[in-house]
Amino acid sequence: KQQDSTMMIEAHELLKKFYHHLLVNTKEGEHALDYLLNRGFSMEEIEKFEIGFALDSWDFASKFLVQRGFKQEMMEKAGLIIKKESDGSYFDRFRNRIMFPIWDHQGKTIAFSGRVLETNTREPKYLNSPETIIFNKSKTLYNFHNARPFMRKNEQVVLFEGFMDVISANRADIPYSIATMGTSLTEEQAKMIRRNVESVTICYDGDSAGIEATVRAAAILKDIGCYVKVASMPEGLDPDDYVKKYGPEHFKGDVIGASLTLMAFKMRYFRKGKNLQDEGEKIKYIQLVLNEIGKLDNAVEKDHYLRTLSNEFSISLDALKEQHEQINKSLQNKKDNDDRNRNNIPRKPLLA
Ligand code: CTP
Ligand code: MN
Ligand code: MN
Ligand code: MN
Ligand code: MN
Repeated sequence: KQQDSTMMIEAHELLKKFYHHLLVNTKEGEHALDYLLNRGFSMEEIEKFEIGFALDSWDFASKFLVQRGFKQEMMEKAGLIIKKESDGSYFDRFRNRIMFPIWDHQGKTIAFSGRVLETNTREPKYLNSPETIIFNKSKTLYNFHNARPFMRKNEQVVLFEGFMDVISANRADIPYSIATMGTSLTEEQAKMIRRNVESVTICYDGDSAGIEATVRAAAILKDIGCYVKVASMPEGLDPDDYVKKYGPEHFKGDVIGASLTLMAFKMRYFRKGKNLQDEGEKIKYIQLVLNEIGKLDNAVEKDHYLRTLSNEFSISLDALKEQHEQINKSLQNKKDNDDRNRNNIPRKPLLA
């Protein structure tokens, strides 16, 4: 088993170098390189993130690996090639894609993600290695090994959705950047983070999926003892789009620098599209915020936000506290239920 892992990593390392060579030095890789340069990548970034290109071929990786003595059965288990049911022959998993190596916490290449050059509906935008004995998705965070020393030094981390966001954040002088690669943050990933830093800034895409994922990730991080902030994107942009549109300097100052506390982020979200001059909408808003205050487990925080609400809407603190107590009671009942199902990670209700 140990030997298998070593061989599989060796294959990934060799293939990574070959993909990179194809991208940087060959005619076949030229259009992929142009694509990246047009998106604002520099050659240094392509080197640093070890980006490559998989040829538009059914068997070049397969042949390349066999020539170097790797067994096809093992390369299939490593997720690099796929066995055809019909005749038992093998073909490459990654074809005609820009290749992002995915590293483990030591920087060893354990998987790949390949991006198409042109998005269409037939093929997934990103194709990822399957889970293997060397690649456990729920324990992997993109760029963790590069970011870790900077996380420790700066005592913070910024958590993104994707590869492009991490690379753009590096351009914006935020080297303590990692990504969940599109999936929900897992408890294992949260633990990896917490072992290195306490302060986490979530910077997901400015769409509804991003907002919902933010709330879920924040709950997991808070549970594990992180201090969570949210850097929110203008609607319709992701961090990579932002850097491209407004420039890297502005990203660090105006987005990461303007991070909100989780509660402030939620309050802003609840406000969206509401006319708070309208009595009914105002009461609905206050109710939603009280709900969130009820979920806090820190008495000082609770008091702080109750006072904020009280000041903002000139409502007596007593009235707010009374309402808050009622919400607390119903939440306590719900929590008792959740505690009984401790083995299922409780899916916290999203906003509202
Ligand atoms: N992702 C994936 N498979 C997909 C789509 C997305 O694995 N079919 C992962 C990738 O890690 C991607 C991340 O989810 O980086 C975020 O997805 P998305 O926001 O759609 O992609 P971007 O990172 O913005 O990529 P691009 O800018 O190239 O469109
Ligand atoms: Mn190189
Ligand atoms: Mn997204
Ligand atoms: Mn995105
Ligand atoms: Mn993007």
